[in-house]
Amino acid sequence: MIKFDEKRKLFSLYNKEFSYYFYINKLGYLIHLYSGEYLSDLDVERLTERYSERYAYLDNDKEICDESYYFSLQASNFECSGFNTADKRGNFAIIKNSDNSLLTDFRYVKHEIVYGKKPIKGLPHARIENAKNVETLIITLKDVRSEVYLELYYSIFDDLNILIRNSKIINKTGSSINLLKLSSMQVDFPYGNYNLISTYGTWSKDRQLEETRINHNKIVISDNHGARGFYHNSSIIIKEKDTNLFNGSAYIFSLIYSGNFSFEVGQDELGQTRLICGINDENFYFAMPHNTSFTAPECVMSFSSQGINGATHHMHDFVRNYILPKTFALKERPILINSWEAYYFDFDTNKIISLIEEAKKLGIELVVLDDGWFGKRSDDKTSLGDWNINLEKIDLKKVIDYAHSNKMKFGIWVEPEMISPDSALFRNHPEFALYNRNIKPTLFRHQLPLDLTNPKVVDFIYESISKIFRNYKIDYCKWDFNRYLSEIGSLYLGKDKEGEIYHRFILGSYKLLENFVNEFPNVLLETCASGGGRFDLGMLYYSPQIWGSDETDPTARVEIQYSTNFFYPLSTIGAHVSARPYLTYQDKAIISAFGTFGYELDPLKLSKEDKDKIIEINKLIKEWHHVVTLGDYYALKSPIEGNYASWMVVSKNKREALVFHFNFRREPTYARYIKLYGLDPDLYYFNSLTNTIYKGEFYLRVGLNISAPLNEGTTMLFILKAVNYLEKTIFEKKQMKNQQVRDKIF
Ligand code: DGJ
Repeated sequence: MIKFDEKRKLFSLYNKEFSYYFYINKLGYLIHLYSGEYLSDLDVERLTERYSERYAYLDNDKEICDESYYFSLQASNFECSGFNTADKRGNFAIIKNSDNSLLTDFRYVKHEIVYGKKPIKGLPHARIENAKNVETLIITLKDVRSEVYLELYYSIFDDLNILIRNSKIINKTGSSINLLKLSSMQVDFPYGNYNLISTYGTWSKDRQLEETRINHNKIVISDNHGARGFYHNSSIIIKEKDTNLFNGSAYIFSLIYSGNFSFEVGQDELGQTRLICGINDENFYFAMPHNTSFTAPECVMSFSSQGINGATHHMHDFVRNYILPKTFALKERPILINSWEAYYFDFDTNKIISLIEEAKKLGIELVVLDDGWFGKRSDDKTSLGDWNINLEKIDLKKVIDYAHSNKMKFGIWVEPEMISPDSALFRNHPEFALYNRNIKPTLFRHQLPLDLTNPKVVDFIYESISKIFRNYKIDYCKWDFNRYLSEIGSLYLGKDKEGEIYHRFILGSYKLLENFVNEFPNVLLETCASGGGRFDLGMLYYSPQIWGSDETDPTARVEIQYSTNFFYPLSTIGAHVSARPYLTYQDKAIISAFGTFGYELDPLKLSKEDKDKIIEINKLIKEWHHVVTLGDYYALKSPIEGNYASWMVVSKNKREALVFHFNFRREPTYARYIKLYGLDPDLYYFNSLTNTIYKGEFYLRVGLNISAPLNEGTTMLFILKAVNYLEKTIFEKKQMKNQQVRDKIF
């Protein structure tokens, strides 16, 4: 997986399908050479000669022009570019030394190659410790003028096209330095013919796709909301201009981080493309005393030469196997019903008992009591921080016991990272809130973030939350986060350390989550931030599922799910059927079936027909959802490019597939054939919707024919199941018999 050619000083990181090359030049710079489809070898001279130009430099007041500078800082491709050097195209790290000088110029010192990778303390990371299918290259570099060291980590898999990178700064200068920027990954693509696909959004309009040409200007996809960013998501795609869903080179980059982040990408003056990503350096400065280190979060790169879907497959497999908590990663999740859209804050013990009763009849397996069970919380103006059961409103023990005696699971909602100014906690500990005391802080949703930079606050709030989970047999937890960070200030850190707040806050969140999953590994955790405002690999390390969006309108959901699916496995996307009136329950369920399935409605308000339908749907979900949980996902038609959206999931053994099709605007008959992917061309598949058997090759080469007139919102689910020869013959005989009967009648 990782080779070092001592003679050429060449590193090659590779597996059967993917190669990544760089080398150490005469001056000790790490020069990037190639990243893409497998390449058995390359010619370093040939690849770098176009930049070769003899540069002069000043040494002891003398102009020197020698062999060592037969390369260009201005134009070479680097693994980690310097700051305040002759390379002006974007920097990897910025350090302010004790003499206030700003310059980083890191050169190679040594390297080692190890199996797997040690876990990163305090940060979520790929679970690859001791993994025999992963090798990690650790390169140590040193700043030319000081005892500041930079470690670059590269982990490559032999069975997945995944490269994970991160970095670490170590201060051995003898005095304190200030870290102003540290990136996780830099990729200098040697030419420029790329498009960037990113997602933007806002509340209830999570992750909308946007494609941009990467030209000669810097594009910055970033977030500065501190932990809950709707605006941009921390996963992007870079693809060659002509790459589509099925063909061509595509790279997905995703940060294992939930705080402020940034991806900078653009072409330089020579048409080469540079990507630099990691923690957002806006409002970031970190004091590093002598002998301390700072570790940047991991960034995952997934590559495929088989289009965007190929890169998605590697990413999904990676997330399922190396990010999600092991207890739930590959397991089907229970069908849940959440009380939020049914009752909001208006519930009591009897209502929840009837909810359990009705849900059970419908085949639902988990009842979740959302916001409002604690303190004096009968609206969103109060009580965050007061994690005591509101006994006037709910008898928690009674409802949990009732659920369990009915063989159902029970879950509750919490929002641990926040505090309401109207709470006992705020009255007793105003210093626990995170805001700048010199200004009037904005109260979003009437609340403030807690100062999680303070370990005392983390411990206090963890104790308040965990005592509920210790005292009650709770099976599931929805962990919400309903405002972003603004006007920050920490009484604990003091004024000088304002630049550390954003990062330390998210470290505090991670500590809370880590404590929780360590103590309650069997509680199914679903994170949430006003819907899907904190959807990233950092959160998925702790919670195997995240609530996809507060938008439960099915049509809008199609777009949200379509874009989310590119980056995150379908089993991680909370997708619930609500009572929104636009489509039938069957249609809504078909959309939600391609996520972690559940309901947001009051079952007591359902008609008899709807109840019957929901019972049928839930049976179908139980029968087929393993394909969604574990299969390979293919985007087939993008909702932003046409009038319909389509996608499919195929089981790993290719014997089962679910195909989704959704029509936006009413349309008459039109030649619509959707070519399917991932099926076995030689297998015969029974199609549940058309009641026919066709060979895989037919679907792969001709496609599913849906040329019929389609109404606004027509939603279709095709279930394809491979049949053996005998099943096929019996089916055909039956068909023939039916035909004979029909012929006789007419
Ligand atoms: C925002 C979430 O997205 C909703 O589902 C719900 O849990 C509310 N918060 C509760 O306050």
